[in-house]
Order: sequence, then C-alpha cells, then structure tokens
Amino acid sequence: MERFYITTPIYYVNDRPHIGHAYATILADVLARYHRLLGIPVHFLTGTDEHGQKVWEAAQLAGIPPQAQCDRTVVRFQQLWEQLAITHDDFIRTTEPRHTAVVQEILAELHERDEIYSAEYEGWYSVSEERFYTEKELVDGRSPEGKPVQRIRETNYFFRMSRYQQWLIDYIESHPEFIQPEQRRNETLGFLRQPLGDLCISRPRSRMPWGIELPFDRDYVCYVWFDALVNYISAVGYRRDEETFRRWWPADCHLIGKDILTTHTVYWPTMLHAMGLEMPRTIFAHGWWLSGGSKMSKSTGNVTDPIEMADRHGVDALRYYLMADMTLGQDAVFTEEGFALRYNADLANDLGNLASRVLRLVERHRDGRIPHPDETAAGPAEETLRRAVLAAVGEMERRLRAMQIDRGLAAVIGAVRETNRYVDQSAPWTLAKEGATTRLATVLYHACEALRIVSGLLFPVMPGKMAELRASLGLTGEEIAPRLERLRVWGELEPGRPASAPPSLFPRIDRRAHDTAARGAARRPAAKKAKTEGLISFQEFSRLALRTARVLEAEPVAGADRLLKLTVDLGDERRQIVAGIAPAYAPDDLVGRTVVVVANLEPATIRGVRSEGMLLAARQGDRLGIVTVAGDVAPGSAVG
Ligand code: ME8
Ligand code: MG
Repeated sequence: MERFYITTPIYYVNDRPHIGHAYATILADVLARYHRLLGIPVHFLTGTDEHGQKVWEAAQLAGIPPQAQCDRTVVRFQQLWEQLAITHDDFIRTTEPRHTAVVQEILAELHERDEIYSAEYEGWYSVSEERFYTEKELVDGRSPEGKPVQRIRETNYFFRMSRYQQWLIDYIESHPEFIQPEQRRNETLGFLRQPLGDLCISRPRSRMPWGIELPFDRDYVCYVWFDALVNYISAVGYRRDEETFRRWWPADCHLIGKDILTTHTVYWPTMLHAMGLEMPRTIFAHGWWLSGGSKMSKSTGNVTDPIEMADRHGVDALRYYLMADMTLGQDAVFTEEGFALRYNADLANDLGNLASRVLRLVERHRDGRIPHPDETAAGPAEETLRRAVLAAVGEMERRLRAMQIDRGLAAVIGAVRETNRYVDQSAPWTLAKEGATTRLATVLYHACEALRIVSGLLFPVMPGKMAELRASLGLTGEEIAPRLERLRVWGELEPGRPASAPPSLFPRIDRRAHDTAARGAARRPAAKKAKTEGLISFQEFSRLALRTARVLEAEPVAGADRLLKLTVDLGDERRQIVAGIAPAYAPDDLVGRTVVVVANLEPATIRGVRSEGMLLAARQGDRLGIVTVAGDVAPGSAVG
C-alpha cells in the first residue's frame, strides 16, 4: 500500500532556530499535509541533532553541561514548530535512549563484521565542519569551504566506506529518482569520480567527549554524523519494533539542504548498505534562502527571525511566501519587500478580496446562506469557471508529485484570479439591484463553490486561514480539512448552509512609505526581484493578456504629480489607464505612441481615478522608459 514517510534534517541545538530551519520544516509539513489530503498514510519525522563539537562548544560557551544546553535549546525548536502549525508525527532527539542504544548496536555489529576497523590517521581537521581533509583537498591551506584546518594525528575507527564506491555509483545511475534534483545527483556522481576513502567514525574522548560512546572502546565517542543519520531508522523502530519498521522504512523522502548533500547521498547510503537495509526512495536537496547575496546563517548574522515574521504578518502568510517564492532546488532571495509584494498580490488582492466580496454579497442578499443555484440560470461563464478551477486541482496534484510546489500554487492562484474575473463579468451587485434573484443565486453559488475548492487546495500551506475561510462557507468538523476526492467534484457545497464573510483574512501590508511610484511603472528593483520570482510555465505566462495600445489622450492627474491619465485605443475598445510616468514623460510626448498594456488586469482606482489596465515600463532608480512597439502593428495586437 502506498504510504509516505518524510523526514527533515535534525537540527543542531547549538543555537535557536532560524528561517532556514523553519523553511525546511514547513516544506516537509506542506508535503505531509498534501499527502494526507490525497488520503495517503503519512509519517512525518523531525528532531534535533544533539551531539558533536558544535553543541559541545555552545555548552562550553554558556558554561553549562551539554545535556542542559540541549534541553534548553530543544524547547525553542519544539515551540516554534507548534507556532508554525507543524504536524510532525514524531520528534526525535539523538540523546534519547531509543536512539543512542540503537546506534551502539549498529556500531557493535559493524565492528564485529569488520566493517569498522581502527587505524592511525593523520590529516587536516576542520573544527567547524567536524571532518578531516586530505592534503590534496585543501584549497589555499583551508578546507574547500574556506574553513581553517589544523593538522591532527591520532588513532581512530573507520567505516569501510570505500568498499561501496562502485556499488553506490551503480545504484545512483540505475535509480534516477534517488537523488533529486538532477543537478545534485550529478554533483554526487562527480564527487564519486574521485577515489572514496573510508570514513572516520570516532572522536577521542580526550578531544571531544560529547557523543555516543563506542561500545567496543570507551576512550572514543561516535562521530556526530554517523550517529545523526541513524535517527531516520531508530525513530521508526529499527531493531526494536519490526512491524513499525517494516511499515515505514524505506523512507519516501529525506528532505535536506544542499549543504548536507554528501553526508546524505554518500555516507548514509553506504551505511545502510553495510547494514543490509534498503535505500530511501528519494533524497531531495532544496536550495538556500539568501540575504544580501549570501546564505542566511547564524555565522553570517544575516538571519531573519521566523518568529518575528510570523508575529508580524501571520504564520500562514509566512508559510505561503516560503512555498510560493522558492522554486524547489534553487536558491531564493528573502526580502521584506518580496514578502510584501507576494502577500499583497496573491493573498490580499486576489484571494482575500474574492472571499470577502463574495461572502459579503451572500450575507447581504442571500440571508447568510449558501444559495441554491438554478442550472437554467447557468451558462458558458459557469462552465468556464468550473473547468478552470477543476484544472487547478489536477495541476496542483501533478506539480506536487513533481516537487514543484511553487508552480502548483501559481495554478491555484490563477484559478482564484479566474474566479475574480467571473465575478466581475457576472456583476452580482448589478443582479441584486435589478432583482435578478435566480441568476444572482446561481452566480454566488458558483463563486462559493470555487472558494471551497481553492481553499481546500491551499489548506496544506495555510491551514489556519483556510480553516477560517472554509468555516465561513458553512463547512464544519471533519469537512474543514479537505480530501482530494471532494475537491475533484463541482457542486459539493450544500445550499442552505450558513455562510458569513470572514473577518479580513489578509489585510494589505501598507508599503506606501517605500513605494512612491504609482501603479503603471514597473516598481520592483529588477536585479533583486529576478531571483525571488522563480520560473513560471508558459501557461502561466499566457494568462497575461499583453496587447498593443495607441495613446489617444494623456493628461495629468490633479493632486498626484507622478501620475498621468491616458486614454488608449485597444482596437476593439477604449480604456483609461493611470500610470506613474509623469516624472519621465510630458503628456504630449505620449499621444500617438504605440505602447504595451496588460489588458486583463482587474480595474483599480488610483487617487480617485479609475484605471483599467497597466502600462509596461522599465525602471532603473529614478529613470523610467515606457515599452513601445517598433513597426506597424494595429492597436489591440497580442504581444508575446
Ligand atoms: O546540518 N536556507 O543541522 P543544521 C535554507 N544537524 N535552508 C537552510 C538555511 C538557509 N539559509 N540555513 C540552514 C545540520 N538551512 C545537521 C543535519 S541530518 C541527519 C543532520 C538548512 O542545524 C540546511 O540546508 O545546521 C540544512 O538542511 C538544515 O538547515 C541544517 O540545519
Ligand atoms: Mg548547518
């Protein structure tokens, strides 16, 4: 039977959690929740890595015993996971006996079978990376990562990893899904082109006592990685509970950051192979959140505090931003500005606005009950809406299975936009005014039904807000958490259920202070933005109706010295567009030019003036240039 066992890295308890940890855990949670939505049994494991040099040093620095350092730091992780709505099934700490005893049994067995041997070793040791390098591996007298190294000579214990080099290469080559994304698979294969050494798995207690004691030599403790990786099996009953272990192992997905690729794709598989265990199905390495061009990390000090972000803007908004703005596998840039842009566009404008206007109309005109649709009052617009929303269900599922969560979310937000368009075009407020009650009920029913489905699709990412929204649609109890089979059908929402407008789901983040340029000019700093955007599909791009337009009139907007009001000819219609281009263009410069506009943007009112589209312009600091068309093309032509 299909089941889904997913793990996060276990985090070092040398310091409090930061946004990188929060990201990895939220990602695992989102994947776990989507699998539950698909009806697949899930086991979601996270935890803490409590041994080794880093934790030892943090304890020394704090002047407390290492176990006390662990005990007080682990709480910060556990509290954060609770705050971030993480639904792990188990939390393992590597100082727990259920783990340490299993590690010792594994060590004893491998030692007995001569998979582990002792030898004198001399090499270059990096304290911060806790590993030895050979002379050849050093770059300018430092580790390849640029960390300082020191010469150390000592007797140690080694795992015969080199034996399994060819086996591992063959395994990776014959299992394309084993290491993902492909770039990381190639990186590991590249690493394996060099001869693979044996792995030093011990640390003399005299140098660093904080670790699991080797069962065959009390003078040594186990190397932290050889201990930590075992958490993935000790937590599910290896050597303790055969039934549980058979149920969950092999893991379906080890989620990791790209910085811990070698330990997971070389050490761990060879360890498992030596133990005679099956390989995990997939090891998936995500990229880094960057800040100011470098990895956000404790040592660089450029970390965003996830708790602070969640406090300020809400847990769901943070979860959504992290999922929507990172293309899995690539790096992404974390900025407050990117966060606000993403939030305002997708959540405040598209989703929040849709929910509030539809449910307010239901409250006002339908007595706060889900209306009864009348199929004779439905037509092609309803059919188009139904298709668009159901297509997003399929697309989300496909993207999920391909680990493209950002693209799946883009498809769902696309369906939200489609629903807003449907509401605009069906104009329920006019229907209400005209007393067209049957048609009004039908339109509102279809809009609510679209909300039911998109709220279900977004539930794994924003469980809190989507539970609120679903409750507003009259769903209760077990219906709040969605199941896929109910999202695949149109018309499940039961008429007559009480419905109400939720209190503002996603209040806009006010960016006015930072954002003086009016709508109409491209306001995102180009260089910074490119990385946060991720890739979009052609289908997503083609949702934008870019068309040529001829400027017929242009005039200033009273009281707004950056704005111009343009009347443009779109071929089959005239539109009024407000654009923040007055600093760069006099009105007369524009008349007669052929420009490019986004023709299917929701109308907006800017400084009291209606704007029915957006003009494309390039912006570099204060300089601005509108996009115009060279050549003789009729107004209204498609641009693409
Ligand atoms: O490596 N962006 O623990 P750790 C994204 N204990 N992810 C980031 C990040 C960032 N800016 N900074 C860190 C360890 N991470 C070991 C793991 S597993 C058996 C043992 C991610 O506390 C990083 O990529 O250093 C990695 O996956 C995790 O946080 C490491 O946390
Ligand atoms: Mg780290």
